[in-house]
Amino acid sequence: MAPDTSKTASLPVLDTLALLDRAFTQADYAINITNNQGVLIKVNQAYLDLYKFTSESEVIGKTQKLIRSPHTPDSIYKDMWQTILSGTTWRGNLNNIARDGSEVFVHLTISPVRENGEIIGYMGFSLDRAQQVLLERELFHANKLVVLATMGAGLAHELNNPLASILLDAEYLRDLFAAPESSIDWPTASLAANSVINGVERMKKVLEHLLMYSRKEGGGGLKHSTLTSTQLIEDSFLFLERQLRSRGIAVELELEDNAFIHGNRTQLESVIHNLLANSRDAFEGRKGEKFIRITTRQYENGRLEIEYRDNAGGISPSLLPRVFEPFFTTKKELEGTGLGLAISQKIVVEHGGTITCESENGETAFHIHLPGRKTESTPESDFLDE
Ligand SMILES: Nc1ncnc2c1ncn2[C@@H]1O[C@H](COP(=O)(O)OP(=O)(O)O)[C@@H](O)[C@H]1O
Ligand SMILES: [Mg+2]
Repeated sequence: MAPDTSKTASLPVLDTLALLDRAFTQADYAINITNNQGVLIKVNQAYLDLYKFTSESEVIGKTQKLIRSPHTPDSIYKDMWQTILSGTTWRGNLNNIARDGSEVFVHLTISPVRENGEIIGYMGFSLDRAQQVLLERELFHANKLVVLATMGAGLAHELNNPLASILLDAEYLRDLFAAPESSIDWPTASLAANSVINGVERMKKVLEHLLMYSRKEGGGGLKHSTLTSTQLIEDSFLFLERQLRSRGIAVELELEDNAFIHGNRTQLESVIHNLLANSRDAFEGRKGEKFIRITTRQYENGRLEIEYRDNAGGISPSLLPRVFEPFFTTKKELEGTGLGLAISQKIVVEHGGTITCESENGETAFHIHLPGRKTESTPESDFLDE
């Protein structure tokens, strides 16, 4: 039987408006409407609840900057404004700040509202992602544990080699005390002392990183800091360098100086670490020249590109589209989790970047693009800063 539409069809205009008003006011989604300058002109109850405002008057006439969090990279706002100014809908995940200062994680959709083809305002829908974020945090932590587990054997090497050379140098220095003063070669002694210091410093760094990885990050957003791309790449090798070297894998780095990135250091390092661990695994049992080549480049707009390449045999075209899928692995049960690239992609995307994978002629290449440190603001983000 056809539904009876006579009632709705015969609603007077006023009732339709009232109905729309009820629907807007009572919707579960937090909804906000701004004018075309981004100034809030209407929000619903769910919006007030989500951001912990007590009345509409606290938000009307202000811009969305009211709830802007320092944990959301500028690049996300830039992308958002570029998209909506061009008349298309923007969707993405970001952190906002509630009136009491607490972080709110939302999935936000913003669409232009048009009249006669012209954009007269924007409509935003925010969905609370608190539960999902908790699960993702657990997943990131699980990945760190996977990274820690793969470090196992490598870690012993990383600590053993500096220890062995420290011991040799220290013994040499001790023996100097028994030697006649005139026979002492001071420049060599000074080199030995420096090599003890360097060895200890390297071990200290390895241990600091180990602690950094094993620490569980609490709520309130992940800690972001500014780091150079060189620091990021070099530190990612800390636990794997000797494993790669002992397998005859040449590491070629071509790193741009003075390229800065703003992000979570542990997470970004674990991205490069995952790529290195995958190359190490893919080289297993292969003969001939083996290389891993990492090149970084910074573009005019600050964007940083990391090209990661190895010649470990490549990935077949039928499997290539699947490598970023969670749990996709070609490794034996206890050797692969299939989470490495899935989580790496998630980390890069959460930093406002992209990661892609190509493979041909026995080589695999990953291209990572990350927003670099911004030197000057763009009209789009100024727009929001009003
Ligand atoms: N550098 C590489 N060379 C060849 N295959 C790779 C490379 N990196 C990743 N892969 C493929 O992608 C799959 C997924 O990688 P990943 O998500 O890190 O999970 P896992 O390493 O646990 O298998 C690997 O099992 C492997 O088949
Ligand atoms: Mg892996």
